[in-house]
Amino acid sequence: MEFKKVAVIGAGLMGSGIAQTVAQAGIEVINIDISEEQTNKAKDNVIKNLNKLNAKGKMTTEQTESILQKLRYSNSYEDIKRADLIIEAVPEKMELKKKVFAELDALADNNAIIVSNTSGLSISEMASVTNRADKIMGVHFFYPAPIMKLVELIRGIGTSDETFDSVKEFSVKINKIPVEAPELPGFLVNRILVPMMNEGAFCVMEGAKPEDVDKAMKFGANLPMGPLELADFVGLDVMLATMEGLYEGFSDSKYRPCPLIKTLVKAGHLGRKSGKGFYNYN
Ligand SMILES: NC(=O)c1ccc[n+]([C@@H]2O[C@H](COP(=O)([O-])OP(=O)(O)OC[C@H]3O[C@@H](n4cnc5c(N)ncnc54)[C@H](O)[C@@H]3O)[C@@H](O)[C@H]2O)c1
Repeated sequence: MEFKKVAVIGAGLMGSGIAQTVAQAGIEVINIDISEEQTNKAKDNVIKNLNKLNAKGKMTTEQTESILQKLRYSNSYEDIKRADLIIEAVPEKMELKKKVFAELDALADNNAIIVSNTSGLSISEMASVTNRADKIMGVHFFYPAPIMKLVELIRGIGTSDETFDSVKEFSVKINKIPVEAPELPGFLVNRILVPMMNEGAFCVMEGAKPEDVDKAMKFGANLPMGPLELADFVGLDVMLATMEGLYEGFSDSKYRPCPLIKTLVKAGHLGRKSGKGFYNYN
């Protein structure tokens, strides 16, 4: 199945970037949010991003204009009725996702496929409130969506092969590299990456200097960013929440969140966004 009209639900950090990505691939897309302020902000951000690419000579003015012609914004769910693919990107709360999935299921075309950009919630649970479990799956984009190449594709228990194959083909069409990930906490990337940051924090708690941990991994493992620099960049609160999700989800002590991270979060040292984390940014 080829998707001609896409709707992205949620125009926040991820939703607006996903909508831009789809439009850049020449596919019609509507970005819907309950907040008009958010759709206005999303539109301004996309225009700013495209103008930057234009100024750097990476995109012509004609290309910029044709992308903007493919992209519309709305504050009404009525606009999903014509979509054949719906990408949900509302905040990471299961109760909210279930409410949104039930609404989308009731309004969308019977053949439409609905996917979630969840970072780790259960796709099967979202599908359980719909009458189309075969047409539901996860597509996990990474931030910033127009730049990051990877998407993790997650099957729910009821996802059909036809749905999976169509969405995989779509992800290639929008210039992403798809991988299939099991429906388990953290999927693939976060399950591997976040425990590495957590382990870096354990090293600091046990006496290592943050600079040494980061240097070790940059120059010994050829990583572009050290694990603690990355933790500060992502936000220590976000990192801790992911670790707690892994710990609970697998009931396995190997995912035990580092107590030092908990202390830093309690102290309000959340990383770059608060000015202080493993490093001082002031
Ligand atoms: N931020 C990241 O780095 C990142 C990366 C990958 C995946 N994700 C996932 O993407 C999803 C969205 O995250 P985000 O960072 O873009 O959040 P965000 O808070 O920036 O944006 C969420 C948007 O959803 C809107 N919204 C809330 N309820 C709604 C509803 N009922 N209908 C329509 N819109 C509604 C909000 O107004 C807001 O604009 C989450 O599931 C998150 O886990 C986030």
